[in-house]
Amino acid sequence: LANGLAKTPPMGWNSWNHFNCKIDENIIKETADALVSTGLAKLGYIYVNIDDCWAELVRDKEGNLVGKKSTFPSGIKALADYVHRKGLKLGIYSDAGYFTCSKQMPGSLGHEEKDAKSFASWGIDYLKYDNCNNDGSNPTVRYPVMTRSLMKAGRPIFFSLCEWGDMHPALWGAPVGNSWRTTNDISDTWESMVSRADMNEVYAELARPGGWNDPDMLEVGNGGMTKDEYIVHFSIWAISKAPLLIGCDVRNATKETMEIIANKEVIAVNQDSLGIQAKKVRMQGDLEIWAGQLSRYRVALLLVNRGPWRNSITAHWDDIGIPPSSVVQARDLWEHKTLKEQFVGNLTATVNSHGCKMYVLKPIS
Ligand code: GLA
Repeated sequence: LANGLAKTPPMGWNSWNHFNCKIDENIIKETADALVSTGLAKLGYIYVNIDDCWAELVRDKEGNLVGKKSTFPSGIKALADYVHRKGLKLGIYSDAGYFTCSKQMPGSLGHEEKDAKSFASWGIDYLKYDNCNNDGSNPTVRYPVMTRSLMKAGRPIFFSLCEWGDMHPALWGAPVGNSWRTTNDISDTWESMVSRADMNEVYAELARPGGWNDPDMLEVGNGGMTKDEYIVHFSIWAISKAPLLIGCDVRNATKETMEIIANKEVIAVNQDSLGIQAKKVRMQGDLEIWAGQLSRYRVALLLVNRGPWRNSITAHWDDIGIPPSSVVQARDLWEHKTLKEQFVGNLTATVNSHGCKMYVLKPIS
């Protein structure tokens, strides 16, 4: 969407994966505090996004959405002011239907202009727009109504289409939103994570600065996968130019979780200026090679082992877009080491079951 936002994929946090509907203004404030104190904000995680269940079920007399008195007593504007004072941005959630997915608050269908104005007047910076409980009409009709309302509201607001991929939003999302979900909801398991990675990969060609494919939010730190599996999760999301929206409780993130989500070198691949989404360029059974072009003639390479045994994987230059005779230097982004060996024609690595190796390859001659 040409609103000047999302030159690189958005980074931040969202309340849903960890807290579901059990949110309140203190959790949001403490999360903003934690993003700053842990250093995550400095790494680029600036959006603090409130998901479903923040509003009263009934609009006020003028028809405005209002923050739930019991959980957001200070109101959303005060929360936005708090988050902005920390140098961060506040995101909110609504739905292109009569109720949101939880059915615990109203949707914006038929109230788009009013709600967009409310969001802008509160200082909202990001809107996630869900698709539950709608009137059965086409999302290609309902979503642009909110796009136009946001454009008129007088504040740049990142617009995230949460249509779950049903009507292939990657095919029509570019003029409508800044990102579009290509999948139904992720859950905190290996199978759920890799299947979303696959569904999202199909649309790689359609990602670009200003509009990104969204395989759903991160589960890293929520406890359902091993450390290696979470590293695969974060690596695939990064190389796929997916939004990096942390979905755990950052106030209590472990050292292990921080090592993953705060990996600067992997984040840099996600935030590369070209904005090219990597593709799965080759598979040998459970062994996969993902690659994508980076700026300055570099290539991001991800070797993923989805099988039950440790195995070796070889990436050949002709599969990953490097000239066949190029001599290449490889930086291992999880070991934080530039390999001593120089590579010609291919690179081979041993990869753990449900693990990965991630490199930036730089042709040196
Ligand atoms: C849908 C969305 C989720 C979350 C919930 C909230 O399922 O896909 O990401 O926002 O609604 O109810």
